[in-house]
Amino acid sequence: MSVTVAKTAGFCFGVRRAVDLAEQQAKKNGKIYAYGEIIHNMHEIERLEKLGVYTAYALEDIPDGAGVLIRAHGVPRNVYTLLQAKKCEIFDATCPFVRKIHKIVDKESADGRLIVILGSAGHPEVVGIQGWCGESVVLEGEEQARAFSERLEMEDKPISLVAQTTVNRSIWNISVGLIKKRCTNLKIFDTICKATDERQSEARLLAGVSDQMIVIGDKKSSNTKRLYEISRSLCSDVRYIEDAAELTTQELGQHQHIGITAGASTPAWIIKEVSNMMSEETKIETGEDFAAMLEES
Ligand code: F3S
Repeated sequence: MSVTVAKTAGFCFGVRRAVDLAEQQAKKNGKIYAYGEIIHNMHEIERLEKLGVYTAYALEDIPDGAGVLIRAHGVPRNVYTLLQAKKCEIFDATCPFVRKIHKIVDKESADGRLIVILGSAGHPEVVGIQGWCGESVVLEGEEQARAFSERLEMEDKPISLVAQTTVNRSIWNISVGLIKKRCTNLKIFDTICKATDERQSEARLLAGVSDQMIVIGDKKSSNTKRLYEISRSLCSDVRYIEDAAELTTQELGQHQHIGITAGASTPAWIIKEVSNMMSEETKIETGEDFAAMLEES
């Protein structure tokens, strides 16, 4: 049996930055509140809580004057105003790639354009983006993009299209194509994060040559769900697990080539626990070959 761990598995730059900032501030001040779960991973949230990083699910849960971390997903503009009114000290870990989307929709909306976001309605990143513009529409995939484009009339408002950073590249391409056909005044901003693109491409390559794929991440993590969908489309046996406890070594023994990937919010220690479950004789590689193929492509 050989096991290949995707080189891109685990924390992305934005999540790493948010977790580091939270840890630093909790260490310095003894306590900090993260507004919303800092990442979609309960194991990591529990670990951080022991260090003094508390999750506040609503603004009312944050005491006046407290230190507050804005997570990588970002927040609507009015959240800053509300926190300032509570005299909170803000530590802003909004990922710069998400911040860029806020700036785009802010400007495009001020220019009188309708903002169309390809992403998951209700996802914190999408809610945050919507909080930086006026009128907006969220399309969750090809079906909704088709229905939306069919409703478009010539005299409709001009449209500016952005993507949630973790959207599946092929769904984006299809949706852009559909809307482009019907909209005469369309501006397209490809805001899919490069880290997402690379992670999805590597999952695609790995799933294509593996008998079994193990996708590690929280069931609430949308980027992990995307990796699962991609893996399912290319490999008949895919396990979506949150940690090593969900696997048994007997199941693993039945496969020749196992590929492992993980979402952007999966800590390295969980990935390590899973790979450590493989027997000692197992050849465990990192996805260097796949990473090289990605660079060449
Ligand atoms: Fe930022 Fe991309 Fe991660 S947008 S939070 S680096 S997936």
